[in-house]
Amino acid sequence: MSDLKHVAIIMDGNGRWAEEKGLSRTEGHIAGTQNIRRVVRQLIVNDVQYVTLYAFSTENWDRPVDEVDSLLQILSDSIVNETAEMNDEGVRIRHLGRIDRLPERLQKAIEESVDLTSQNTVINLNVAFDYGGRDEIVQAVRRIVDSNVKFEDITEETLSSGLYTAGMPDPDLIIRTAGEMRISNFMIWQASYSEYYSSPVCWPDFDELELNNALSEYSRRRRKFGSLNKTVT
Ligand code: IPE
Ligand code: IPE
Ligand code: MG
Repeated sequence: MSDLKHVAIIMDGNGRWAEEKGLSRTEGHIAGTQNIRRVVRQLIVNDVQYVTLYAFSTENWDRPVDEVDSLLQILSDSIVNETAEMNDEGVRIRHLGRIDRLPERLQKAIEESVDLTSQNTVINLNVAFDYGGRDEIVQAVRRIVDSNVKFEDITEETLSSGLYTAGMPDPDLIIRTAGEMRISNFMIWQASYSEYYSSPVCWPDFDELELNNALSEYSRRRRKFGSLNKTVT
C-alpha cells in the first residue's frame, strides 16, 4: 500500500471497554495505552511512515479532575516505560499539541523522548496530547501575524507550515474506534481529503486484525481529490 503514508487514529472507547468489564475508567485508559505498542508494530509491518494517535483533546480538560489527573499520570508512566523500547525499534516520537499547559515534569519527559528518538526513521509516531485542531490553527495564525509575512504571500502552504504537522504528509486514513462518527476537533485542517473509517471495536480491543480490516478497506477506496479519476496522491 505505497500510497498509504499516514494513518491517524482517534483512540476512543476506553471508558466503555472498562464499563463492560466492571473496571474503572482509569483501568480502561491503561489498557488503551498498552494497545499502542501492538498497533504501532502492525503499522510498521505495513510500511506506514506516519501514525498520529489522538490521546487527549483540548476539550478533555473538561472531564472530572480525577480522570484528567490519571490520564496525565498514564502518559508520564508510558513515556518512562516505553520510550527505550520504542527507540530500539526505530520509532521517532513527536508531540502534537499544547505543551505549556502540561505539568513541568511531563513537559521534560516529552522533550527527552522527542530528543532521544529524533534520528529514528522506521516510523514517525505523533502523540496528540492536549491537541485541538482549532487551537492548532489559531497558533499557526498567530505565528504568521508575528512573522509579518505579506498579506499576498499567505497561502495554504504558509498555514500548513505553521501547524504541528509542518513538513509531514496529511493523513491518508483516519480511523475512529468505538463506533463514533465524528471528528472531535482532530486534524481538521489536515483531514480535508482523508479517508474516514469507523470501527465498532473499543480501542483497547482494536488489534492487528481490526487494523488490517481498516487498511484493506482503505485500499479499496477510490480517492479522487475533486478530479474525475485520480486514485493515488
Ligand atoms: C478515549 O476513551 C480516551 C480519551 C478521550 C482520553 P474515552 O475515555 O473517551 O472512552 P468512552 O468514550 O468514555 O468510552
Ligand atoms: C476524542 O474522544 C478525543 C480522544 C480520543 C483523545 P472523546 O471521547 O473526547 O470525544 P467525544 O467527546 O465523544 O466527541
Ligand atoms: Mg470517548
